[in-house]
Amino acid sequence: MQYMMLSRPRRNRKNEAIRQMVAETIIGKQHLIFPLFLIDGDNKKVEVASMPGIYRYSTDLLLKEIESCLRLGLNTFAIFPSLEDRYKDKLATESYNSEGLYLKALRKISEELPEATVMTDVAMDPYSSDGHDGIVQEGKILNDPTLEVLGNMALAQAQAGASIIGPSDMMDGRVGYIRGVLDNNGFTEVSIMSYTAKYASAFYGPFRDALGSAPKSGDKKTYQMNPANSREALIEAALDTQEGADFLMVKPALSYLDIIGLLKQHSDLPVAAYNVSGEYAMVKAATEKGWLNGDQIMYEVLLSIRRAGADVILTYFAKEFAMLSL
Ligand code: PBG
Repeated sequence: MQYMMLSRPRRNRKNEAIRQMVAETIIGKQHLIFPLFLIDGDNKKVEVASMPGIYRYSTDLLLKEIESCLRLGLNTFAIFPSLEDRYKDKLATESYNSEGLYLKALRKISEELPEATVMTDVAMDPYSSDGHDGIVQEGKILNDPTLEVLGNMALAQAQAGASIIGPSDMMDGRVGYIRGVLDNNGFTEVSIMSYTAKYASAFYGPFRDALGSAPKSGDKKTYQMNPANSREALIEAALDTQEGADFLMVKPALSYLDIIGLLKQHSDLPVAAYNVSGEYAMVKAATEKGWLNGDQIMYEVLLSIRRAGADVILTYFAKEFAMLSL
């Protein structure tokens, strides 16, 4: 008997041309931001043990790395500094020392590679002797006094050439505070990509290894969000929007695809997602063991983050992706 089926979805999958024609999601280099780690010194390139293929670069080699990425068609870079302990204090004063490692490197990048779009990180942890994103007093993270430090840091980064400021600290009110400081100093064109829904996640482990920025005591649960919550992300999104954010970010990405979708549905701002260090490390570890096909997994991971609703993805895979899609 000839069984009648009018609709056969497989017809739209029958060859590569048709599959590509009906593809709902597109992922390209233009959607990616490449995070890079900076260290002191000359001619230094040190691999992060828990992130194979990812290095900490001294300023000279960081410039070379950015140049080679630009040639591959990657344009935007999120730069994170790794400081020696002697530069750290309770108030993160090194974060706005214009002669410090980070700000000097930012100036060099904007002088030598003006075509690169540079995103900076605003949070106290790389400069804090407590390893927290805010000022610590008797075991508590102080919100409002921290804003002043964040404002100083954001202004110093804008002065050093940052194009996008990324507050990753999760203090209340920081987007509006930073917007005010930037605008009052004439930096109305500097963007803010807010880490809007940043969860207290164990997926940041390898990043904290890379920067030596793990909290000295306690955890980040009084400021980063509880992984159990999704409606709370909408509260954060509404506040960041009112306060003048240009992009809303969800972090991590893979265990939070529902949150990416939720923000996309509820906001007209571009949504970014941070495919974090632990997510990268898992794929690399399984690939090294021969348990997964790393290239295919990378593609599927990035595609799924875009499909969930991310316009922009910060990912350690950016360079590899760009090399494969040449
Ligand atoms: C810190 C910061 C973290 C990351 C980006 N900025 C770690 C943390 O909050 O402890 C994590 C990035 C990653 O894991 O790739 N302000």
